Amino acid sequence: MTQKEIKKQVKSKQRVTDHGEVFTNEREVNAMLDLVKIESERIDSRFLEPAMGDGNFLVEVLKRKLNSVDKKYKSVQFEWERYAVIAISSIYGVDILEDNAVECRNRLFDIFDGRYVTNFKEKCSNECKRSVRFLLDRNILWGDALDFTNPVTKKPIIFSEWGAVNGSMLKRRDYIFKFLVERTHQFSMFNDQGDVGSIDGPIKDFPLIHFLKLGVDDAN
Ligand SMILES: C[S@@+](CC[C@H](N)C(=O)[O-])C[C@H]1O[C@@H](n2cnc3c(N)ncnc32)[C@H](O)[C@@H]1O
Repeated sequence: MTQKEIKKQVKSKQRVTDHGEVFTNEREVNAMLDLVKIESERIDSRFLEPAMGDGNFLVEVLKRKLNSVDKKYKSVQFEWERYAVIAISSIYGVDILEDNAVECRNRLFDIFDGRYVTNFKEKCSNECKRSVRFLLDRNILWGDALDFTNPVTKKPIIFSEWGAVNGSMLKRRDYIFKFLVERTHQFSMFNDQGDVGSIDGPIKDFPLIHFLKLGVDDAN
């Protein structure tokens, strides 16, 4: 391993001691994702990284999903935007260090934005970028994945499930992370059958919203 790679994997000795923060390098991330290659390339497959660092795994997952979006929808901007939003909405992460959550959101946004601008140049819309920012704020969270709370406020971590409905609309349902984990006994997210019991059911159900209107007001 080169000196450059070591630097990228460790931010400081203190952070390694306090939080075990050693990032996985790109080659290993991709070798591991290749073990679930089809899922990693599927636009709407849900990925959760419960100790995401600044997002080395999530970044590669997003690149793979956007490759699939490019392949199928690059010729129609609206469709590309719709499926890119679905790709982002299915990526989730938590880290105990706040700066990691911020960096991870920014890295994911930059990957989306780079691809968007390359494909559609001056035709890119601010509303699509706002929707993506909104999703990243909701899905990439600062939290302790062992006690399922924010390390400072101690409020429970709440994740949003996003479901595509009627083409361009999204359905959001919020769940308490702790109950999702206890329900599934493994880190699979949400329940496709929708047969949830009362304690682990959604704590909030939102009206349908157009995928380009996310973040327009605080209510969604
Ligand atoms: C070994 S690093 C791995 C980071 C990333 N998954 C990667 O492979 O590059 C472990 C990460 O877990 C985070 N972490 C440690 N304890 C945690 C906890 N209780 N809840 C959430 N994240 C935690 C650290 O801040 C660090 O970013």
